Amino acid sequence: MKKFSIVVAGGGSTFTPGIVLMLLANQHRFPLRAIKFYDNDSARQETIAEACKIILKEQSPDIAFSYTTDPETAFSDVDFVMAHIRVGKYPMREKDEKIPLKHGVVGQETCGPGGISYGMRSIGGVLEIVDYMEKYSPNAWMLNYSNPAAIVAEATRRLRPAAKILNICDMPIGIESRMAQIAGLKDRQQMRVRYYGLNHFGWWTSIEDVDGNDLMPKIREHVAKFGYVPPSNDEQVEASWNDTFAKAKDVWALDPDTFPNTYLKYYLFPDYVVAHANPQHTRANEVMEHREKHVFGSCNAIIQAGESSAGELEIDEHASYIVDLAMAIAFNTQARMLLIVPNNGAINNFDPEAMVEIPCLVGKKGPEPLVVGNIPQFQKGLMSQQVAVEKLVVDAWVERSYLKLWQAITLSKTVPSASVARAILDDLIEANKGYWPELK
Ligand code: NAD
Ligand code: G6P
Ligand code: MN
Repeated sequence: MKKFSIVVAGGGSTFTPGIVLMLLANQHRFPLRAIKFYDNDSARQETIAEACKIILKEQSPDIAFSYTTDPETAFSDVDFVMAHIRVGKYPMREKDEKIPLKHGVVGQETCGPGGISYGMRSIGGVLEIVDYMEKYSPNAWMLNYSNPAAIVAEATRRLRPAAKILNICDMPIGIESRMAQIAGLKDRQQMRVRYYGLNHFGWWTSIEDVDGNDLMPKIREHVAKFGYVPPSNDEQVEASWNDTFAKAKDVWALDPDTFPNTYLKYYLFPDYVVAHANPQHTRANEVMEHREKHVFGSCNAIIQAGESSAGELEIDEHASYIVDLAMAIAFNTQARMLLIVPNNGAINNFDPEAMVEIPCLVGKKGPEPLVVGNIPQFQKGLMSQQVAVEKLVVDAWVERSYLKLWQAITLSKTVPSASVARAILDDLIEANKGYWPELK
């Protein structure tokens, strides 16, 4: 079997060890000859990389491993770029969340003004990685988790239309795992789903088992009472995520024939979200106090002891999806996966130039989207507004336009008025100096 070479862009990410462990656990189906890490923060990457080097040596000494901040070294001779960069890292995420909250508006990593702020930082970083790949490994594919995926996807559609980049999200698979538990199935692979929407903004319209039996009634009965909190709730789930999964019950009630993506709570219940937020302590603080501490603490323990048993790094589900996607391309499996792709008629009564999240068959030429058909007025209205926000952000980035960005923030369903939008925008400009293009 052919052996592949991959580079993880954002080598210093808290998700990198999980991806490496997943890649190692999948050597029988996706064999590797080389793994490289690339990051523009050498100190952050070094800790993750030195720990992964020990893990790789123990489990798969045949895989060549290296890490670098040099683009040519990183992106030469690779088949896949697995990207998960965070431009501005957690300190900027914290500002994205806290600035809107100061104005009484949802403060979230990818939704509302926080997501717009992050998008204005991410576009340049992601395009840079696309360009390195095209320069040094023109036949490679980039599988991109870097957020905010909706805005990043619109930017790559418009600015790098020929690039072999696939933008993906792990939220639907996380929710599907919960649905599988609710339905009493072994895992989400035992379900066939239909889903449509934008990234962090979509709905399931059908869930069947592999024999074609409808699982919606059984799941509905549970979601109506408990949202996506499964019968045997895992104690390890953090409280804030648990609240989000429980809140899905109220989001679901707006259209009981479908099941919603959990992120819709930020658009449909922004008042609730703000009332339950602590403007002094947001999700960025939780992540720095928990996941970042845990991952870096484990990596340091592994480095100190010289063996992987000294740490507690876990394989994550997020990582298995990216392996499934790489395999679909590498071996032309035609696997059915949810991807963020140009609509191009798949949703019949929706902008053909919108980036939508829909099921696709994936093979060596990339994704082949499945037909969704017509969508109802409620979803169409919400999606039209949100897609306009995402397009205006890309317009603003390209044109360096203050006006377009003010319009984008004003149009977000999370923001009550143009004056609040303007006040948030002015604070965000100040906070993002050096990260955003200078606006005119
Ligand atoms: P993190 O801050 O731990 O890691 C990000 C890394 O990217 C850092 O090491 C940083 O130095 C590096 N980086 C920043 N700008 C860079 C650039 N221009 N070039 C190279 N490297 C750069 O963040 P994290 O919490 O591990 O998340 C990583 C990314 O994955 C984020 O964008 C997050 O939103 C995304 N993510 C997406 C999904 C999804 O569903 N699409 C799921 C999980 C995480
Ligand atoms: C889900 C979403 C990602 C998002 C992540 C945030 O996985 O799909 O897009 O980045 O949640 O998780 P965090 O733990 O960093 O708040
Ligand atoms: Mn996501």
